[in-house]
Amino acid sequence: MWEASDDDLFAGAGTAPRSTARDVTGSLTSEDLDQDRTLRPRTLDEYCGQQRVRDNLRVLIQAAKSRNEPLDHVIFSGPPGLGKTTLAGVVANEMGAKLHTTSGPAIERTGDLAAILTNLEAGDILFVDEIHRLNHQVEEVLYPAMEDFFLDIVIGKGPAARSIRLDLPRFTLIGATTRTGLLTGPLRDRFGISYRLDYYSTAELAQIVQRSARLLDVAVDEEGALEIASRSRGTPRLANRLLKRVRDYAQVRGDGTIDAELAATALKFFEIDELGLDSMDLKILHALCETFRGRPVGLSTIASAVSEDPSTLEDVYEPYLMQRGLMVRTPQGRMATLAAFDHLGITAPQGVS
Ligand SMILES: Nc1ncnc2c1ncn2[C@@H]1O[C@H](COP(=O)(O)OP(=O)(O)OP(=O)(O)O)[C@@H](O)[C@H]1O
Ligand SMILES: [Mg+2]
Repeated sequence: MWEASDDDLFAGAGTAPRSTARDVTGSLTSEDLDQDRTLRPRTLDEYCGQQRVRDNLRVLIQAAKSRNEPLDHVIFSGPPGLGKTTLAGVVANEMGAKLHTTSGPAIERTGDLAAILTNLEAGDILFVDEIHRLNHQVEEVLYPAMEDFFLDIVIGKGPAARSIRLDLPRFTLIGATTRTGLLTGPLRDRFGISYRLDYYSTAELAQIVQRSARLLDVAVDEEGALEIASRSRGTPRLANRLLKRVRDYAQVRGDGTIDAELAATALKFFEIDELGLDSMDLKILHALCETFRGRPVGLSTIASAVSEDPSTLEDVYEPYLMQRGLMVRTPQGRMATLAAFDHLGITAPQGVS
């Protein structure tokens, strides 16, 4: 059974903050920040997987460049750790544009946004992470800035207040969100280009593991990379983390080379489930299979059963469980599938499919 110690596994040694189950599935830890600098792809060619998105972007970037225009505004959505921030950097790099980075919660007042926008130069890219967390007033200022490249600023207060209009350079806004559902309609409509990133296949993740291994100077063979990939829950960030843990194991218990056998032993040692499920995933499945015996249940009921925030469940955990066919959403509620019962080794009640 999975113990609380799985948290420590991902927190990295010494200085890294203790991470929570949520970190396992995607949020940034300080280890990631180090890793990001070395492993983050810089070009579309280095970026593995997401073939359709890459093919599309290649065309759009080439067209914009040949017209000598900035790219249309872009929004990337999808679960944590799939490469949204990376892709924003790749686009800026391929466009040869300067990248400015901020995030929804960081822009507290309209003045903050005005300061950012008036600092941009023509062709610059402004990346706004967690764009669904922009507050309402800030969003309203953003609309004309995105659409017609101007800002209306109110100067002074009371009867003496007046509004002045500032022209902005033509810039590209790239937004990232884990949930398109939370974007307001008017904001969503102002992005000319919108992509949803999907979980990666095991073969794609194996490519990422091999690329990272080369950069980290670790020897890993094809089967070893596949073994790590298959437990990375479709997520490059996790693939990179697991590679580092297996590397540690190989260094101490093996001869430094990672093959399938060593990878499997190491991952077992670190209690990584064969499907890459973490303790929260397993708690959810146990709740659905045991507490609720495969019956349909509402999101908030599951959330209180596993003591997790409903929106985290919906953004972070559910997409992967559904993608693996362990859980389904029906009009009556969420249900465990037969595969979930099998995975937990529990006999399913009659009627579960
Ligand atoms: N397509 C890819 N090819 C290779 N490595 C990738 C790819 N996508 C992501 N990575 C690696 O995974 C890590 C996480 O990616 P990134 O930070 O871009 O995810 P994100 O979608 O922005 O996550 P979050 O929602 O938590 O901000 C990066 O360090 C990067 O090295
Ligand atoms: Mg990000």
